[in-house]
Amino acid sequence: MKQLEIMSNFLHHITQCILFASFFLIIMALLKILEFPDPKLRQRASEVTVFDNTLKTTCEDMLETMYNAKGIGLAAIQVNIIKRIVVIDLSEEKNNPLIFVNPEIIKISVDTKQHGEGCLSVPGIYENVTRPDSFIGKYHDLDGLEHKLEADGLLSVCLQHEIDHLNGRVFVDHLSRLKQEKIVRKLQKEKRRSLAEA
Ligand code: NI
Repeated sequence: MKQLEIMSNFLHHITQCILFASFFLIIMALLKILEFPDPKLRQRASEVTVFDNTLKTTCEDMLETMYNAKGIGLAAIQVNIIKRIVVIDLSEEKNNPLIFVNPEIIKISVDTKQHGEGCLSVPGIYENVTRPDSFIGKYHDLDGLEHKLEADGLLSVCLQHEIDHLNGRVFVDHLSRLKQEKIVRKLQKEKRRSLAEA
């Protein structure tokens, strides 16, 4: 009986340790998201050539950061990692993480479509952007294998938006100058307000 008690205490202790460790890991994995108009968002990301554990960890951290911020897509540039990496999850349950290394558009459709877009680097702003409806592209997986891809619907919109990031573009670049100035003013006002409240 005594032995059982010791065992159960021990298990309880271990469970607590694991809970504490995973809590710590989640905290550790969150990366800081750069916000427009930060000039760091204008960098052009370089091709990934090494497919190792560091790349896997980077993708895990990016996914964690994206889920935590309630986003559906994140490009490495947005967390100041100057590499051509994109993570996306379009599922309702947030259980279908997609990873695209070195994503590239090969051929865009002639048809275009307007879609409402937002961005974790441009918080609180949602605007319609017109883009090619679908495209054919390619990307590498985490093992460095190349895959072809035909993207349409939300995946097409989201990947085009993220590939823009890898080339130093933000979705507001697609809007009129007037709209862009309005967005900058709104974000500055928002920042001043949160600084005043802090
Ligand atoms: Ni974005």
